[in-house]
Amino acid sequence: MENLENQKKGNMDFIHHYVPPTQAGKQGPTLLLLHGTGGDENDLLDLGRMLAPEVGLLSPRGNVSENGMPRFFRRLAEGVFDVPDLIQRTQELADFVESASTIYSFDAKKVIAVGFSNGANIAASMLLLRPQVLLAAVLLHPMVPLVPEEMPKLTGKRVFIGAGRRDPIVPMQNTERLVTLLREAGADVETHWHSGGHTITHEEIREAKQWIQVSL
Ligand code: MLT
Repeated sequence: MENLENQKKGNMDFIHHYVPPTQAGKQGPTLLLLHGTGGDENDLLDLGRMLAPEVGLLSPRGNVSENGMPRFFRRLAEGVFDVPDLIQRTQELADFVESASTIYSFDAKKVIAVGFSNGANIAASMLLLRPQVLLAAVLLHPMVPLVPEEMPKLTGKRVFIGAGRRDPIVPMQNTERLVTLLREAGADVETHWHSGGHTITHEEIREAKQWIQVSL
């Protein structure tokens, strides 16, 4: 198992899956799939296929373990993030995506993040700290990960946010703050609210699928 994991890691420090595009998806983007707390690199492959059946998928496992549950960065409590760790892990993930684009020969300028919960939070952090790595992002149930000292220019970046009005983890105001932050930086943000909690709905996937067509 350890050998297999090391093999998968190679010199890019994330255990991951890469699923190449079909012939029809070769000119399209690559989806960077980012799971939630306790998930892994397998979790969002089906979602990726549903959103964009032809394109390449890059799906890393978060390198932080919280009581055995993989995450993309450390937190001090629910919704309270270890910001220095978040900044460092965001840079590492961005570096990984860049290395992966060379190794798997996909276009580094056409990466769309698709993240759920903790994965959506690190995707939002990438938009704020390393925006050049992402063309667009689908953030499912994100919160404000951090507010950078210097705001990036996100003009031309498309962002889809899926959120729940009764989310026990992410209060509505927090999502709204993230929307404002991204819009103020120039991003083109579309939101989809459902009446439930911290969970992905069919309707949300349908809306995200429609939204992503423009970037395919
Ligand atoms: C986080 O820690 O990133 C958020 O609270 C969501 C989660 O529970 O993973």
